[in-house]
This record gives sequence, C-alpha cells and structure tokens, in this order.
Amino acid sequence: MASVPIAGGRFIIIGGGSLVGSATAAELLDAGAAEVRLFDNFSMGAESAVAHLKDNPRLRIIRGDVMRMGDLLQAMEGMDGALLLAAYMTLNMDRDPWGGLDVNIRGVQNALEAAVTRGVKKVVFASSNATYGYGPGIKGDLVEATPFFSEGAPPAAIIYGATKIIGEQLCRTYTQKRGLPHVVLRYSTVYGERQHHRAANALYIIETLEKLKKGEPPEIFGDGSETKHFVYVGDLARANRMAFESAASNVAVNCSGPTPVTTKELVALVTDLAGGGPAPTFVGDTPGKVRLTSGGAFRIAHEKAYEAIGWKPQVDMREGLGRLIAWLQGNEPTH
Ligand SMILES: NC(=O)c1ccc[n+]([C@@H]2O[C@H](COP(=O)([O-])OP(=O)(O)OC[C@H]3O[C@@H](n4cnc5c(N)ncnc54)[C@H](O)[C@@H]3O)[C@@H](O)[C@H]2O)c1
Repeated sequence: MASVPIAGGRFIIIGGGSLVGSATAAELLDAGAAEVRLFDNFSMGAESAVAHLKDNPRLRIIRGDVMRMGDLLQAMEGMDGALLLAAYMTLNMDRDPWGGLDVNIRGVQNALEAAVTRGVKKVVFASSNATYGYGPGIKGDLVEATPFFSEGAPPAAIIYGATKIIGEQLCRTYTQKRGLPHVVLRYSTVYGERQHHRAANALYIIETLEKLKKGEPPEIFGDGSETKHFVYVGDLARANRMAFESAASNVAVNCSGPTPVTTKELVALVTDLAGGGPAPTFVGDTPGKVRLTSGGAFRIAHEKAYEAIGWKPQVDMREGLGRLIAWLQGNEPTH
C-alpha cells in the first residue's frame, strides 16, 4: 500500500525553499503533518520565501545540497514521504547547463538513493510539461502518452525537458528495482504567491505587471494567439499532498490549471486586474531571450490526475492572478 497519511506523518521537501516548496509545506502542516523539513542549498530559493512558516514548531529548515549524499542521508532520517523539487529550469539551464545536469539528474538519483536507504515510504517527483517539449509539434490535447517534441525549441528547454524525462525514469527504476513507491506529477507553468523570476512563462506575467505599473504598454509576441497553460501554486500544493495520500504508485500525471489562455487573453486579464492600463503592443522576438513557443492551440489534459490521485484544479486564472497581484503589492517577487 503506497498511501502515506499526512496527519502525524513526517515529510521532507528537497528544494523546498521556494515557490512550490513553501506552498506545499503550508499545505502539509495544515493537514496535520508531525514534521516538515525544507531541505535547500538556497542557491535559488530564499529564506524570505519561507519566512511566513519559520515560527511553526513542526517546520525545520535544513541547509543542504543534493550533490552531497551525506547531507541527504542525514536529512532523510525518520521521514515518511519525500517531495523532490530541487531543479534548474530552462532559464537557469541556459545560463549553466553543467550545474543543471548535475542537480536535475545526479541530484535526483542521490535523493532516491538516500530515500531508499532511510526507508522513506513514498517519493513524489516534480516533473514538468517540458517532457512534451516545445515548438511546432505542440498542439491539441497533451496527454501523458504524448511524445517529446523538440524541433524548433531552444536548446536549454530541450535539455531541461530531457532531464525531467530522465528523472521520471530514475523514479520508475527505484520503484521496480528497490521497491520505493513514487508518483510523478508533471506540473504546467506555476504561478502564485512567492512567485520568482526563474520560469519563462510565469516571468511574462511579472513583466506585464511591471510594465503596467510604469504606465507602459505590455508587449505581446506575434499576434497573441499563442497558448499558455498555467497552474496555481495552491492547487499544486494540494496535488502534492494528494499524491502522498493516494494509493497510487508508478504513475505519471499532468497537473495543469482549469483551462489554457492565449497570450492576448492573459494580458487583458492582467490589465483588468491591475486596474487598467495602456493597450498592448505587438512585437517580434528579442535576440538572446529564451522564449517557449508552441505550434498551435494546446491544452495540458489533467483528467488522468483525477483518476490516479483524485485531483483536479480549483483556482482559475482570474482568481489566481488576483491572489498573485495582491501578494506582489505587499512584496517584491523573490528573485
Ligand atoms: N515553476 C514552474 O513554473 C514549474 C513548472 C513545471 C515544473 N516545475 C518543477 O517544479 C519544481 C519546483 O519549482 P519551483 O518553481 O518551486 O522551483 P525553484 O527553482 O523555485 O526551486 C527549486 C529549489 O531547489 C533549490 N536547489 C537548487 N539546487 C539545489 C541543490 N544542489 N541542493 C539543494 N537545493 C537546490 C533552489 O535553491 C530552489 O529553492 C522544480 O523541480 C521545477 O522543475 C516548475
């Protein structure tokens, strides 16, 4: 039985000092976890991202590195569940592919090995819709069996997607050969409170808001018909919790928001929620900037997540963007 109850359980979030980790820690603590450990080297995450949780006596922040087995073995002692988040996404992979390959591949292998050694009962692995790739092949419903498209995508995006495919297969290997149950959740672009600047598509929301704040017109690439499919961070925190609670193992499912939006719709929504602003300008590509494009209208189908772990998204973009904007008004985005 692969189910790990939250109440009274002990959990570690590897790479937990950031957007998804902080929301998930709050979710697990609210559901009665006896202990939540946030393990992070804070190379990208920030103490400020977890400051709101710091005084909770059931939360422990552990400075450690996934490239150091000793750190992982010590931190995993006594844990029932481990959520693996530490990763370089596309923008960081573009700057430092060497470090990205280390963390996204060997770091995952190290964490799985430490989890088995310490008798952890279940692992949840944060994968990504990057496992479907980018570019002209991406259109229609993306389901878990959709293959990887890479033609026309930036190299860093392909490398990132490929590392997530490898991470998923390492999880399957540890389930098959070492008996460690796992669930893979393929997140679509995350947005919400404690938003950072590391995800290309979510960064676009922040850039649009910043332009509007300065009274400048938001920029839309192309004709604005390009699709983006986001997921609200609180919905993902719930998905992570439910993946531990469910009996599911050895399965990979998509986690996306209720519906996709076009860039034009997104900019209109952000402008409306920001209290109005100038009409957008339509621009061409910025040289040197990593952009993630798709070939046509697409939707990341999340029905299988409901079958496997009982999850479906609850927060639509208007609601979630409203929460992000309210949070930004009191805080700077965490780098
Ligand atoms: N944010 C998104 O839009 C998005 C979309 C799809 C999938 N994902 C995946 O979800 C996960 C979490 O996303 P996020 O936005 O919270 O990520 P993030 O970049 O904010 O967090 C990753 C954390 O890992 C930590 N880390 C990096 N290298 C480390 C190392 N060597 N040892 C220990 N910790 C290390 C960083 O300091 C950071 O706090 C990642 O695996 C990411 O690939 C994110």
